Amino acid sequence: MVNYQIAIDGPAGSGKSTVAKQIAKKLGFLYVDTGAMYRAVTLKTIREKIPFQNQCPIINLAKNTEIDLTIDEKIGQRVYLDGEDVTLAIRMPDVTNAVSFVSRITGVRVALVKHQQALAANNNVVMEGRDIGSVVLPNAFLKIYLTASIEERARRRFEENKTKGINTDMETLKAEIAERDLIDSTRKESPLIKVADAVEMETDSLTACQVADKIIDIFNERVENGKQD
Ligand code: DC
Repeated sequence: MVNYQIAIDGPAGSGKSTVAKQIAKKLGFLYVDTGAMYRAVTLKTIREKIPFQNQCPIINLAKNTEIDLTIDEKIGQRVYLDGEDVTLAIRMPDVTNAVSFVSRITGVRVALVKHQQALAANNNVVMEGRDIGSVVLPNAFLKIYLTASIEERARRRFEENKTKGINTDMETLKAEIAERDLIDSTRKESPLIKVADAVEMETDSLTACQVADKIIDIFNERVENGKQD
């Protein structure tokens, strides 16, 4: 059986998660939030008090950590770290501010990419992250690259945090997003890039629902045109 793979990449706050969840639900595909996996490894690194510059123990930790993603009707996805539900804990500011340091470690990426490719080998997936179209699923049926201005992305993160009871101010959020953009797009290993065969969508003036519908239209069009290998 040939699986359909939809790869969605873009910077923090570009709307990937909300959009990817909606597409997965509408198409009945598995939703895979790869950022959640990097966040889970970061949470465990913090808990075990390993300094971020100590790459070897962090790589070992990534190799020996069980990360499970399950579907949740209400919030889209639950994340389990060695059996513990860490869905909320991985969104806390301490993890958010440290995740770029962990996700740029090559050995951590190798371990997590393997896991992500295994999920996509056995399921129709909507997978979102930074390197999905470029590294994880280079032969994906459809690749999307989402963008939005930094102001709009900070505003979205602010609203998202508010619903989770996390208090942050806009200026701090903007500065954090800008810093993460810089690290994510300039790191040596799998930087955030738009690959040539990705469809770019600017989302400032669109709702998540509109973006999801547009992507589903492109997907259906490709299926009808028989572009699936
Ligand atoms: O999408 P997010 O904000 O939850 O991602 C958290 C961090 O993980 C982000 O700073 C970049 C990193 N990440 C990555 O390097 N590769 C991915 N495929 C997904 C996320």
